[in-house]
Amino acid sequence: MKKLIIAIDGPAGAGKSTVAQIVAQRLGYTYIDTGAMYRAVTWQVMQHDVDFGDADAIQKIVSTIQIGLRYVNGKMQVTANQVDITEEIRLPEVSRVVSEVAKLVVVRTAMLTLQRQMAQSGGVVMDGRDIGTHVLPNADLKIFLTASIDERARRRWRELGDKGVLVDLNALQEEIASRDKTDSERAVAPLVQAKDAILLDTTKLSIEGAVNEILRLCEERGRSV
Ligand code: DC
Repeated sequence: MKKLIIAIDGPAGAGKSTVAQIVAQRLGYTYIDTGAMYRAVTWQVMQHDVDFGDADAIQKIVSTIQIGLRYVNGKMQVTANQVDITEEIRLPEVSRVVSEVAKLVVVRTAMLTLQRQMAQSGGVVMDGRDIGTHVLPNADLKIFLTASIDERARRRWRELGDKGVLVDLNALQEEIASRDKTDSERAVAPLVQAKDAILLDTTKLSIEGAVNEILRLCEERGRSV
C-alpha cells in the first residue's frame, strides 16, 4: 500500500509535535520535526555569537552543521555535529530568537533541501510552518493545526514547568504572539494555511481527538490504519 506524505503546519504550541509523533507511531511512519531543525541552527548560531544580520557567517554555519534527528529509547534526540542538544534547543533563550534565524533566506534554503530529501521515500509525518505550502506542496494530506493563543501559552507553560523551567505565563503568551507575527509576516515561506489544508482547531479538542481525526483522514486518502 502506498505510503503517505503528511504535512502538519500551524502556530507555536498548537500541539503539532505531540499529535504528529503519535500519528507517525500509529502508522509506522517517520516523524520529522522541522522546528527542531531551525532550533538546532539557532543554537549553533548562538554558540558562535554571530550577528543575525551577518549572512556570510550564518551561511558558513549552515553549510557545516550536521543535524541529526533520531529516536533513542522512544524519545526524539536532536544533535548538531554529533552534540546532543535535545534539551538546549527548547530553552526560552532559543525560543525567543528562533524566528529571527528562521526567517533568513540562507537558513530556509538549506533546510528546504534537507527536508525534501528526508521526505523523499514517503511514509513521513512532517510538522512545521511551511510544509504544506513550500516544502511538500504535493503532500497527500495537509493539516493546519491551531488553537487559541491563551490555550497555546498555557500548554507551553505546563510543558516547560514539567521540565522545571519556570516562566511567567503572560510573558510566554507575548513571546508566542510575537513569534507567530514574525513567522506569519516574513518574506520567505511565511506561516499560512495552505489552500488545500484541513483546519483542525485543538482549543477544545484533546490530543487523542486530533490524532483520531488525522488517522480518519489518512484512511480516506487510501491508507487503511
Ligand atoms: O515548532 P517550533 O516552535 O519548534 O518552531 C521553532 C521556530 O522555527 C518557529 O518559531 C518558526 C520556525 N519554523 C519555521 O520557520 N518553519 C518550519 N517549517 C518550522 C519551524
